[in-house]
Amino acid sequence: MKETVLRKFAEIYGSAEGVNVYFAPGRVNMIGEHTDYNGGHVFPCALTIGTYAAVKKRTDNKLRFYSMNFESLGVIESSLDELTPSDQAGWTNYPKGVMWAFAERGMKMDCGLDIVLNGNIPNGSGLSSSASLEVLTGFYLRDLYGFEVTNIDLAKIGQYSENNFNGMNCGIMDQFASAMGKKDNAIFLDTADLSYQYAPLVLDGAKIVVTNSNVKHSLVNSEYNVRRSECEKALEELQAVVEIKGLGDLSEEQFEANKAAIKDEVRAKRAKHAVYENQRTIRAVEALKNNNLKLFGELMNASHVSLRDDYQVSCDEIDVLAEEAWKVDGVIGSRITGGGFGGCTVSIVKDEAVEQFKVKVGAAYKERVGKTADFYVVEIGDGPRKM
Ligand code: GLA
Repeated sequence: MKETVLRKFAEIYGSAEGVNVYFAPGRVNMIGEHTDYNGGHVFPCALTIGTYAAVKKRTDNKLRFYSMNFESLGVIESSLDELTPSDQAGWTNYPKGVMWAFAERGMKMDCGLDIVLNGNIPNGSGLSSSASLEVLTGFYLRDLYGFEVTNIDLAKIGQYSENNFNGMNCGIMDQFASAMGKKDNAIFLDTADLSYQYAPLVLDGAKIVVTNSNVKHSLVNSEYNVRRSECEKALEELQAVVEIKGLGDLSEEQFEANKAAIKDEVRAKRAKHAVYENQRTIRAVEALKNNNLKLFGELMNASHVSLRDDYQVSCDEIDVLAEEAWKVDGVIGSRITGGGFGGCTVSIVKDEAVEQFKVKVGAAYKERVGKTADFYVVEIGDGPRKM
């Protein structure tokens, strides 16, 4: 990959002399979905796939972007004086948003950049190509301009830029997983205070299989923001009767005892998911520590059902993938992963069942949905780095 982006850089901008290459990973979330903006727990891991950038400082204020994933767009030009979101800027709104967010914090770039990007996260798969691009941008800005920020700051800046520059009110999970990834470990993160622990996820005799539905419904961002405000409203209603900062502060019992305060049935379902999913996540990590992979899998399945029925962020295609996975012998657990409305499922599958899994789930998906699913046996990788 390093050679590929360097070669492209030379081809596009004339020479690859003095060019640095960086990488930041995508992520898959094992459990703890739609809890990160509710002060709950998440359990994601960084992947070995992600986004690469070849970058060189310029002597003027210009920014030139080129993505090998969108070659037909050619070089997209901008400048440090134009760090405002625009439709024409397309994917460059992500790096520009991060540059803007650094400037907001008083870290201003004193010259522009030439950039070539290349990512190997499948587009629209829900494996956080945008968070990887944000963390990557922050990482090379720190390296090239000497900005004093930690990796956790990179996650916060990425989230801030996505919220305030790109209009997606995401939580911190994706950026945190990318910025703080650790090989063979998932990250048990409490989003209420950003305390975290690494938990080894070397599955004895099993693999993590990500199945791409290859669908992405246009609802993703709009419905995401709707869910978020539904939870905020439910929280306000609950705060009238119980002292909490976020839905993640409630146990299932406390929720049941106070849920009458929520004046709308739909909102009550959303809040129920947030509360129960948080508790499931805590229990799942405990199960993993006790080597109880069976329980971990059952909690993953329950997470899917809750996201499908109570949170309503699944879709027919993803439900087919999960249901068909549950039927295969050797599948320990399977669920939707990420924001929802398409994207991927994540499954834990016994080594000897992986081939069967691909054949059976793939065939059933083709038959029931009429589309082809893609399967990736993923590895858990480290966070961002200079190559
Ligand atoms: C998206 C968001 C995350 C998180 C997940 C759902 O990936 O970017 O912050 O909320 O959805 O768990």
